[in-house]
Amino acid sequence: KEHSTVSITVVGASGDLAKKKIFPALFALYYEGCLPEHFTIYGYARSKMTDAELRDMVSKTLTCRIDKRENCGEKMEEFLKRCFYHTGQYDSQEHFVALDKKLKEHEGGRLSNRLFYLSIPPNIFVDAVKCASSSASSSSGWTRVIVEKPFGRDSKTSAALTKSLKQYLEEDQIFRIDHYLGKELVENLSVLRFSNLIFEPLWSRQYIQNVQFIFSEDFGTEGRGGYFDHYGIIRDIMQNHLLQILALFAMETPVSLDAEDIRNEKVKVLRSMRPIQLEDVVIGQYKSTTKGGVTYPGYTDDKTVPKDSLTPTFAAAALFIDNARWDSVPFLMKAGKALHTRSAEIRVQFRHVPGNLYNRNSGGTNLDRTTNELVIRVQPDEGIYLKINNKVPGLGMRLDQSHLNLLYSARYSKEIPDAYERLLLDAIEGERRLFIRSDELDAAWALFTPLLKEIEEKKTIPEFYPHGSRGPVGAHYLAAKHNVQWGDLSLDQ
Ligand code: BG6
Repeated sequence: KEHSTVSITVVGASGDLAKKKIFPALFALYYEGCLPEHFTIYGYARSKMTDAELRDMVSKTLTCRIDKRENCGEKMEEFLKRCFYHTGQYDSQEHFVALDKKLKEHEGGRLSNRLFYLSIPPNIFVDAVKCASSSASSSSGWTRVIVEKPFGRDSKTSAALTKSLKQYLEEDQIFRIDHYLGKELVENLSVLRFSNLIFEPLWSRQYIQNVQFIFSEDFGTEGRGGYFDHYGIIRDIMQNHLLQILALFAMETPVSLDAEDIRNEKVKVLRSMRPIQLEDVVIGQYKSTTKGGVTYPGYTDDKTVPKDSLTPTFAAAALFIDNARWDSVPFLMKAGKALHTRSAEIRVQFRHVPGNLYNRNSGGTNLDRTTNELVIRVQPDEGIYLKINNKVPGLGMRLDQSHLNLLYSARYSKEIPDAYERLLLDAIEGERRLFIRSDELDAAWALFTPLLKEIEEKKTIPEFYPHGSRGPVGAHYLAAKHNVQWGDLSLDQ
């Protein structure tokens, strides 16, 4: 290892993702001592910048976590000294050749491993990959490329992108990020299920009435309207983040924890999914609203969004997995921008207790809120809680619903690493478990493409909801149609 080195090139270094996530994650890894001894970081972008200017830009985004202020300033200085900048066009072989030369100087004859993080718009992915692979790939070690969605807009464009990337890279060089897979609670999902005797036996249609995947943000798409309008919430959140969590949730026990074994099981789930029916989907778009004298903009108030845009900023859907384990269990998804709260959670609602001694009049639906519910709170306030019925202490016999509650901040003093830290480290270490394989991507698109086409062809009008509200009421009708009620944090207290 002393003789090897890793060069990390952030292509699109002046962009938002690089500034907000990639450089801070690299610094956190450095601080934790997770980066190899010999490493160099290069920012690559079109704008002219010196190394000092890049360092200045990066330093503004670095933070020290609360529990480790010690030496932080010093560490930052050390880290910044390992960061450099190279100006270049994304489609210029010549500029990548020049980068290669600089990387070689830093590598100083050691075995060279190279990681390229493409933090650039998708229309220039292929050009950049072509140049990086032919002019700046390692001649002695590995070369890996991290790409992040959007991976096309539908099956066809995604397949075309994969095909183009594979002209220049092998599948095992491509690391497709879905940053939700790097979130602590999403990684913990398999631990919870497979290493605790009490959950796995319940993990099927026999005991689970429905599962909910909920993503909600309390801000709109301001500043990203141009990108967002081309994609919409179904492509932005559901087809990737929520579907990935669903696949992990529902998969059969993998043969081992190896990347291929896990991804084999996930892809089976995706391929077992029933085509999504338009009547099982509700779409919405937020509109302007005034509250307490403050006006919050509507989606189409953004100058980069066409006034008559029908792009959904909210969607709810009922999905089904047609296999023996999950036959007829609704998997509900809900994702929205500009809602009343920011959160991401998984809710597992269990069936009613048959012949329940304590609840003989409930009719056996889960709408009475006496059934058990397991909540996995991905963010914020990471935690897991299980709602159980409990006797209210006292001489009478009254039940209430209480929580067995594991709140991470109370149990663990260590701060939770950002998803990008884990994913970058995995990419450096060649661990592919949390990255999307091309057949997974194909299956995910195969599921959503017909629905997206239908919505776009029929010009389905989204249900408008006020900025900061709970979203379209249609989502409640959809859930009720499947005998389900959405779980809600405010009802969990
Ligand atoms: C991105 C989406 O993938 O995830 C954004 O493109 C969204 O629209 C973001 O805001 C949410 O990520 P996080 O980690 O902040 O929940």
